[in-house]
Amino acid sequence: MSLQGKVILVTGGTSGIGEGCTRHYASLGAKVVFASIQTERGQALEQELRAEGYEADFVYTDVTQEQSVQALVARALERHGRVDGVHCNAGAWAQGKATDFDDAAWDLIMGVNVKGALWVAKHVIPVMERQGKGVIVLTTSVAAHIGFPQHVVYCASKAALEAIIRCLTTDHAGVVRVVGISPGTIDTPMLAATCAGWDKPKEEVYADVAQRIPVRRLGQPIDIARAAAFLLSDDASYISGTTLVMDGGTMVLPPW
Ligand SMILES: NC(=O)c1ccc[n+]([C@@H]2O[C@H](COP(=O)([O-])OP(=O)(O)OC[C@H]3O[C@@H](n4cnc5c(N)ncnc54)[C@H](O)[C@@H]3O)[C@@H](O)[C@H]2O)c1
Repeated sequence: MSLQGKVILVTGGTSGIGEGCTRHYASLGAKVVFASIQTERGQALEQELRAEGYEADFVYTDVTQEQSVQALVARALERHGRVDGVHCNAGAWAQGKATDFDDAAWDLIMGVNVKGALWVAKHVIPVMERQGKGVIVLTTSVAAHIGFPQHVVYCASKAALEAIIRCLTTDHAGVVRVVGISPGTIDTPMLAATCAGWDKPKEEVYADVAQRIPVRRLGQPIDIARAAAFLLSDDASYISGTTLVMDGGTMVLPPW
């Protein structure tokens, strides 16, 4: 399995799962163009990867803004002339029940997770159509299928991504492969943020959670990166319109 010479875009590529993916795709020989709103982290990671001999470019991109996404795709084309794969991974999270709902929650979570993925699809699919080929991987979540307490907008955003995967697969058949990757509990800054305000330290919460996961550990970004790299590669050329669940077995557990 190789990404040698492939041009791969990663959104949210400077932290957690996305950072793991940026590093792993580069190590597999991809020309990585990675994007986020974290300029300092992006520039530092770009420097580090280039010093190791990899081809990596950071592009500041706010996926909620069409012009910003357009500029990202233009930059990748200017630099490499093509886009073989895109990993729509940028994500935002905030707690809240329906009774806490407000415009800010909608704009943040739906803006980044759903609108962001649609802007990326809008601007890379014409490139892939001109090439005759391309792959889009989207980071969804087990939250698309579970009613996590106080996560109504986040869960709705991830369920929307599952629908988007199906629609992109239908609308761009023959050219674009579209695959979701659905992480369970992955050790990232976003997961740590969900533990803020709990009555136990994060480490204890993680140890308790790990005991309930069938593989008995939390996932690491590299777990997701390895699977996503496979989905982006030609070895996965018969996989489209579906989602790979990577939750260490959590979703099969009985409810009692
Ligand atoms: N960590 C988990 O357990 C878990 C589980 C399921 C799904 N996910 C999903 O995985 C993805 C990555 O999450 P993570 O846990 O690595 O979180 P993270 O907070 O470490 O990373 C999120 C990334 O998204 C970027 N981002 C946020 N808003 C953006 C914007 N407007 N434009 C561009 N980039 C933006 C951030 O800069 C960051 O690089 C998200 O889509 C998240 O919903 C995470």
